[in-house]
Amino acid sequence: MKALVLSGGSGTRLRPFSYSMPKQLIPIANKPVLEHVLENIRDLGVTEVGVIVGGWAQQITEVIGDGSRLGLRVTYIAQEEPLGLAHCVRLARPFLGDDDFVMYLGDNMLPDGVVPIAEEFAEHRPDAQVVVHKVPDPRAFGVVEMDAEGRVTRLVEKPREPRSDLALVGVYFFTAAVHRAVDSIEPSARGELEITDALQWLVTRGAEVRASEYGGYWKDTGRAEDVLECNRRLLEELRPGLAGEVDGRSEVDGRVVVEEGARVVRSRIEGPAIIGRGSVVEDSHVGPGTSVGRGCVLRDTRIAESIVLDGASISDVPGLYGSLIGRNATVGASARHRLVVGDHTRIEVAA
Ligand code: G1P
Repeated sequence: MKALVLSGGSGTRLRPFSYSMPKQLIPIANKPVLEHVLENIRDLGVTEVGVIVGGWAQQITEVIGDGSRLGLRVTYIAQEEPLGLAHCVRLARPFLGDDDFVMYLGDNMLPDGVVPIAEEFAEHRPDAQVVVHKVPDPRAFGVVEMDAEGRVTRLVEKPREPRSDLALVGVYFFTAAVHRAVDSIEPSARGELEITDALQWLVTRGAEVRASEYGGYWKDTGRAEDVLECNRRLLEELRPGLAGEVDGRSEVDGRVVVEEGARVVRSRIEGPAIIGRGSVVEDSHVGPGTSVGRGCVLRDTRIAESIVLDGASISDVPGLYGSLIGRNATVGASARHRLVVGDHTRIEVAA
């Protein structure tokens, strides 16, 4: 089996981050979403991975390289325009050949893994097998109806009135039967070739499409809130370890990682939290649910439930909460609010 990871798209819901980086490289517990995805694929025993990349190809290849660091062989496939998930399958045909493959959206996190579902697919080999998850409001997703035996009877992309609460979570297992389907469908109302429509095409023609429910934690990391929530969740599973320096006047509580080369001075770190390589935390309080990236500086600051990306510095800010601070950003205090704010940035100041 091969894997096809979709890592194109524009990520408008993650602006301003998506102006300068692909959403798939947003770090969760100090590791890019895409890397979590690739590790998940490796856990399936798959090593041949095609990665669809759009305008951010360069940043993605710089981070992932040829995949060998992750025990994978990565082939990059360029998509000039985000024309839909089924369009990605069309583009990847030369890479995929007639092999079975797992398609995985590069911004979806399923930290509990899909190993049992992959095994089920390999054993029964239906034409396609989709992974679904019960959600309270499925209107933002592809929605699946299935019978008691797990056979899919109908799929609709983002229905206004969903007929089930089972959402497609961005992981699909396919046989070569999908290629005729993606070649046969027309663009949807949003102008994209939808994989949901390709699956419905198969169902309509009597192909066997099965659905398996994923019962673990799932997040489409499309919005800042989702990224923060997912970060908190992954931090809770970190193996604690203090490889960096923590001075005698600091206090470390709970599940905390201080990476090599990081320095914690006269500060309190309350887990779950991670302080990245080469970062300095001085006279500060880092509260639960916080990831501080590499090469950051925090001084006289209190921060919780937040992600600070590489190279950012924060000083004299006593109450940061639920924040996402971009690479090399500077946050500081002054007597008045003084802001240099990029397009589509969201700021909330304490009233
Ligand atoms: C895509 C799929 C949708 C699926 C979702 C999962 O939606 O079209 O069926 O439920 O991913 O994240 P998009 O993120 O393109 O709106």
